Amino acid sequence: MFDVKKIREDFPILKREVNGKPLVYFDNAATSQTPQQVIDVIVDYYQNYNANIHRGVHALSQEATDKYEQARIKIQTHFNAAKAHEIIFTSGTTHSINIVANGFSSLIKKGDEIIVSAMEHHSNIVPWQMLCERTGAILKVIPMNQDGELLMNVYAELLSENTKLVFCNHISNALGTINPIEEIIEKAHAVGAAVLIDGAQAAPHVVADMQALDVDFYTVSAHKVCGPTGAGMLYGKEEWLNKLPPYQGGGEMIAEVTFEKTTYAPLPHKFEAGTPNICGGIAFGAALDYMNAIGFDNIAAYEHELLEYGTEKLLEIDGLKIYGTAANKTSVISFNLEGAHPYDIGSIVDKLGIAVRTGHHCAQPIMDFFKIPGTIRASFSFYNTKEEIDVLVAGVKRAKNMLL
Ligand code: ALA
Repeated sequence: MFDVKKIREDFPILKREVNGKPLVYFDNAATSQTPQQVIDVIVDYYQNYNANIHRGVHALSQEATDKYEQARIKIQTHFNAAKAHEIIFTSGTTHSINIVANGFSSLIKKGDEIIVSAMEHHSNIVPWQMLCERTGAILKVIPMNQDGELLMNVYAELLSENTKLVFCNHISNALGTINPIEEIIEKAHAVGAAVLIDGAQAAPHVVADMQALDVDFYTVSAHKVCGPTGAGMLYGKEEWLNKLPPYQGGGEMIAEVTFEKTTYAPLPHKFEAGTPNICGGIAFGAALDYMNAIGFDNIAAYEHELLEYGTEKLLEIDGLKIYGTAANKTSVISFNLEGAHPYDIGSIVDKLGIAVRTGHHCAQPIMDFFKIPGTIRASFSFYNTKEEIDVLVAGVKRAKNMLL
């Protein structure tokens, strides 16, 4: 039974006030909140078995190593990766994407083509532009329509035997669109291109199955799924991870070092130079346990209810326009009020204890497409309520009265 009142009890931060009002946290697409169960895992690590991993023969180091590797297996199981060593621990999605973009420098040549979508976060644009600058490869863009849906017929035309890589987010952070990644992957593979899907915004809402998708790379940040910041994963198919050179050199990623030559450690360690975020990785596993105990089907159904309710109530406000009206979308509502700057609305509702994100959401090309400076973005999680949406709607009405 999905019981939001009971779930909210797990999140200490939801009890606090902001500006003298109960916190209404609608900035979940930026970062999710952390339940006590995950906070306890973090405290337990530092109180009881803080040690460096894979290095010592002492008991604490072994305990930390075991917990870290158990977390890797939890993540592997959650995303149904074929092998545990296909899960690389990273500091988050940006780090994960940069490992791949950097690695492809030696596999891409001048004139090769790379395709991205028009609705990417900057972290899934800039590393590829940097790759193009290094190699002379050409960046092409899948356009979108006014609803924020990719034009899949144009995508089909962009693909050719020159296409080496395709990058797309699973769910757009700014619009909430759920992209048809199955089709994107299948079509890219048909011309022999590799595909990276940025799963940062999808992971809190749906479970992506690496083997069923047959995706080459998939990236996730722990802090979007009730885990800590500074931890995340790069999933890569074994054959690709073996082909890519390491991203960083250092301890832990080597097999043997001499001044003449260094050989690299096998996967996953080849990509895990230096002391990792041990506690973060363990807590990432605990966060997935927490969300799986609630159940992703329950989460998706409830968040869909919130999306429908929020959309209906916000649209009752005259002059309010929603950006991102795809048929298939998640619980993100990006909107503007005619005649008001998004920053002003965001600042006024903040005074009422409501946390929303305002601005371009690290997706400036989307704002350019709609010819707007930014939006106000309310992103709902499974611990939010319809009553909180009512507070937001009242806050936006109040801001409208003050500004217009
Ligand atoms: N990518 C995060 C967001 O959309 C930070 O807010």
